[in-house]
Amino acid sequence: MSSTNTSALHTDPSLFSGMDVYAVAGNPISHSKSPLIHQRFAEQAKQRMHYGRLQPEMDSFAQAAKAFFAAGGKGMNVTVPFKLDAQNLADVLTPRAQLAGAVNTLWKIEGKIFGDNTDGAGLVRDLLAQGIALHSARILLIGAGGAARGVIGPLLEQSPKVLIIANRSSAKADELVKLFADLAASQEVALESRTLAELEDSAKTQHPFDLVINATAAGLTDQSPLTPKAVSNIFMPSSFAYDMVYGKTTAFMQQALQRGARVSDGLGMLVEQAADAFLLWRGSQLATVINPRAVLAELRS
Ligand code: ATR
Repeated sequence: MSSTNTSALHTDPSLFSGMDVYAVAGNPISHSKSPLIHQRFAEQAKQRMHYGRLQPEMDSFAQAAKAFFAAGGKGMNVTVPFKLDAQNLADVLTPRAQLAGAVNTLWKIEGKIFGDNTDGAGLVRDLLAQGIALHSARILLIGAGGAARGVIGPLLEQSPKVLIIANRSSAKADELVKLFADLAASQEVALESRTLAELEDSAKTQHPFDLVINATAAGLTDQSPLTPKAVSNIFMPSSFAYDMVYGKTTAFMQQALQRGARVSDGLGMLVEQAADAFLLWRGSQLATVINPRAVLAELRS
């Protein structure tokens, strides 16, 4: 049985007559919490819909997504490793999806596939819900890959005082600083890049940070991108450390805890990006009836 066969994964819209069908596509996908999250939003908003999982082969995202929409699928969330493929597939991109360089939400209207990226908005909403002030904050974003790029625009829109992008290799961080220079200037944010090695030099970091976000893939292998020397420069007890990885206390979070900082994993970001996708699909008027924080509490229980 091919894994691009939509019915194999219970997402074939023809199996759910009278219901709008959505899916999350990724590889692997069996671990995904998105079906449960969207099921809860649908219950809260009294929406009749089905949300399933789709696992295209690594080189078959476009084929699987086209087949899903051709069969009547209404919308799709897209996760690792297909966010770039999803951007290429979309006929129309929202400005924030263009800036993010990746798409995590697709939907079809009048024959056209639209693509958006709700990851950054999800991160910002989770931070604000956890009481983290972003306006005038000094923020350090670690990583310069797709995950980092996806959140820079929404973070800049909150008008922090400083946003430093730190990466192992300097070229990717420098590129992101260039890409977001105009937005940073319009929001009066000092946007700068550093290498991870430079974080070890207190003259280069100047001051500890209010918020440190780990957007590297290091947490997946139980590593931290930070050396002990960098840790002592960047955290103070009032700092908040946020890891986009969820489901465990990562090495990065442990380092922050040892400095007395507060920490969070990325589960709230996952729920909040899903909430934005749900509202794009089902209507923004439902914002007052869905309760992402209740869904998050259930996932944590
Ligand atoms: P994603 O889409 O998840 O961001 P990516 O585009 O492959 O994935 O980017 C991965 C990011 O994690 C990069 O910033 C990478 O640093 P490099 O650009 O120097 O490769 C970073 N990264 C991965 N593993 C890391 C590790 N062990 N320590 C520090 N940074 C790491």
